[in-house]
Amino acid sequence: MRYENITPKFFAKNRTKLIELMEPDSIAIFNSNYSMPTNGDGCFPYKQNSNLFYLSGIEQEDTILVLCKNKRAIEEHLFIKASNEKDNIWLGEQLVKEEAQRISGVTHMHELQELEAFFAARIPGFRHVLVDINEQFNVHTGVKCKGFTMLQELKDRFPLKKYGSAAILLTQLRMVKEQQEIDLIRKACEITGEAFKIILDFVCPGVKEYEIEAEASRSILKQGATRFAYPPIFGAGINSCVLHYFHNHNTCKDGEMLTLDVGAEYANYSADISRSIPVNGKFTKRQSEVYEAVERIQQRAIDELRVGKRLDDYEKEVAQMMEQELIGLGLLKEEAIAHQSVDEPLYRKFYMHRTAHHIGLDTHDVHIKDMPLKEGMVLTCEPGIYIWEEAIGIRLEDVVLVTKKGPVVLSASIPKALHEIEQYMASTRSSREILASVE
Ligand code: GLY
Ligand code: MN
Ligand code: MN
Repeated sequence: MRYENITPKFFAKNRTKLIELMEPDSIAIFNSNYSMPTNGDGCFPYKQNSNLFYLSGIEQEDTILVLCKNKRAIEEHLFIKASNEKDNIWLGEQLVKEEAQRISGVTHMHELQELEAFFAARIPGFRHVLVDINEQFNVHTGVKCKGFTMLQELKDRFPLKKYGSAAILLTQLRMVKEQQEIDLIRKACEITGEAFKIILDFVCPGVKEYEIEAEASRSILKQGATRFAYPPIFGAGINSCVLHYFHNHNTCKDGEMLTLDVGAEYANYSADISRSIPVNGKFTKRQSEVYEAVERIQQRAIDELRVGKRLDDYEKEVAQMMEQELIGLGLLKEEAIAHQSVDEPLYRKFYMHRTAHHIGLDTHDVHIKDMPLKEGMVLTCEPGIYIWEEAIGIRLEDVVLVTKKGPVVLSASIPKALHEIEQYMASTRSSREILASVE
């Protein structure tokens, strides 16, 4: 394994918490993700459905978990594909029932071909059927998840059942992290932090954005990460202003800012961290001004991630901090702000996104929009200022745990203060020198 095994107790506890939330007389069904085909003879890299992983720890495709709750008993059933010689030869060892049971702690194990008979025998005995489908906002790819297809089939076959959402229950649970999850997110941040330090050492005028990506990739994979948690961003100059820049194909030039937005995925948990650094290791006066404005906002914004806070209110507070800093930078005028439209506030020209999102098994983790923050929630804090006219984009992003005693930054070890970045870039073994010497 690339990561230390998560104990089956963790997955069993998650199932118990879910079963407590289910009404009696319910059966809940969780599907793995589809393996997505490429245009030719292949598939995109597989990633397990996060809800199924959260409840079972199984990372293999073609897996289904069924939880049953009636007045007398609770039952857990896991269906995996039958292991076969061909898959073992082409893909490596596939899970057998005993191994899947050891990982998940689920009591009843089956092969997938038994599912039809199981549904025929068991579903008629339940009043509620809960199916897990992706109900998060902003996902409009047109691709339907397996749960969606299963829901249609079950409705055709058992039309008089009461159908409901398993996802809404799971989302409530996943929003509050167990200590074990916090440790895994912290580990993903630490891995990312090591990669950031290598990057600070590596960056100099003349390097390509993709060369930095290669250094980051090597670092996180060597430390046991499975992959990047999302397409990493290495954007220099004007690209530092592109919010989800992903080409990473340009050359970093002297005098430019470089925005790095990188997260390792460790044991399926994400980090999501941003820093903006000067390509030549020294901030210009203007770059410093903008950097310090973002740093001030972030410090205050981290401090506001507190129990009871609603994210919509939080974002309004950050927007006000942003307006004040943009005035200080000479980018907005107080008078114009006084007359701005509520729907199109002027700061949007320089700050186009939000500052906090939940993070966990998904980088933009599942959440219920207006639920006040609770102890154990983990969020990013990522204010940014993007001045297209000056080709200066600066974003600082950290991962923050909400506790009763206040926010705890899980990514605190990564250099961030302006002088720290400059010192770090000046003192590290310089690939700048190596590069300069070959030119
Ligand atoms: N890297 C995506 C984000 O910061 O939300
Ligand atoms: Mn990010
Ligand atoms: Mn983020």
